[in-house]
Amino acid sequence: MNNFQYYNPVRIVFGEGQIKELANLVPDNARVLITYGGSSAKKTGTLDEVKTALQGKQREIFEFGGIEPNPEFNTLMKAVDMVHANNIDFLLAVGGGSVLDGTKFVALTATLDDDKDHEKAWEALKGYTRDIQNALPLGTVLTIPATGSEMNSGGVINHSERHAKLPFGNPLVFPQFSILDPAKTLTLPERQVMNGVGDAFVHVMEQYLTYPVNAKVQDSFSESLLKILIEEGRAVKANPNDMETRKNIMWTATMALNGLIGTGVPQDWTTHMIGHELTSLHGIDHARTLTIVLPGVMRELKDSKKDKLLQYAKNVWHITEGSDADKIEQAIVNTENFFRELGLPVRLSDADLDASAIAPILSQLEEHNMVKLGEHRSNDLAVSERILRAVI
Ligand code: NZQ
Ligand code: ZN
Repeated sequence: MNNFQYYNPVRIVFGEGQIKELANLVPDNARVLITYGGSSAKKTGTLDEVKTALQGKQREIFEFGGIEPNPEFNTLMKAVDMVHANNIDFLLAVGGGSVLDGTKFVALTATLDDDKDHEKAWEALKGYTRDIQNALPLGTVLTIPATGSEMNSGGVINHSERHAKLPFGNPLVFPQFSILDPAKTLTLPERQVMNGVGDAFVHVMEQYLTYPVNAKVQDSFSESLLKILIEEGRAVKANPNDMETRKNIMWTATMALNGLIGTGVPQDWTTHMIGHELTSLHGIDHARTLTIVLPGVMRELKDSKKDKLLQYAKNVWHITEGSDADKIEQAIVNTENFFRELGLPVRLSDADLDASAIAPILSQLEEHNMVKLGEHRSNDLAVSERILRAVI
């Protein structure tokens, strides 16, 4: 196991009916900006529930809606303007990963000088926001289990005009608290539920499928999360209203990307980085880009990942028969079949793309300096091309 520091200050408030806890979690005299997405928070009544919970103290409540899936830089800059205009001192994100990520970005960039062209915010995003020294405090009410954003300090922001979907991270934007009410996930369309399971599955894989460093806690924890996602992914498809299943999916997705399983182990975020370009160029849902790219990563890198692929085959899929090559291939096929069972794509063609999509993706990877990906930093553009060719 490698050396590591682990720090995670997020208070998780888990369970049905826990939105009422906002009364105790948000400072009494805060000027709160509630941020939310398109329409789901309003339609489902969650927004009203949140506002009711905040009443009764000296708080002033403001609202900013319209944060898109794959949150748009320009939309978020309007929220920054609103923060400045109203002296907001607390942000409360109500929604999925896009709303949470977008709100974290607002929390960071609202503390930059108030220049209306927002060029500093764009420069900060290109620099991963690492250098920003201050952020507004924020809390979250999560309505879709998927990204882990509720318990981490990162996010991803889209700039359509610049064809860029860029990750950022800064410990200042760990939420102070996140409310996880699994009942809130019952209104999700099946596609979003399955996207969430797929995203969480790939998060675990990208912290697990590298090479062994004898990190027993991280490995066995990752294998457990994968097995739970397989079991509960199938269960939620068969019986979407089962609350116990919803609870387990929600907590698993949080644990998949709160930093714990990634401590002290090598990581490989190749699938995510190629996936972001697919979203940016073709508007494909985040999770669906991942389930397309991951099989290509597994096949193309099966030599450098051999030991971990065999461990995955044995411990997650219980594959014990055949040669090493057979076991690895069977594990990859099982992974693809699991994604297919959930209605998730595993080929570019499943998303109506063909080989002509590959060159523009490679150009974008180059433009965004994603040319040394993987646990050995050896996945250059030629490797990314082979990964994509493996999933035409
Ligand atoms: O916009 P509204 O109307 O709210 O609808 C949303 C949206 O259309 C809807 N929705 C959310 N909760 C709902 C609901 N519909 C009905 N009932 C509910 N309870 O779901 C749609 C998708 O929402 P979105 O927030 O985009 O989904 P998700 O949570 O999958 O987030 C995806 C974003 O997170 C980023 C992705 O790149 C993508 O931009 N990621 C963030 C990460 C992080 N912060 O650590 C890591 C991930 O790898 C990921 O990259
Ligand atoms: Zn993801």
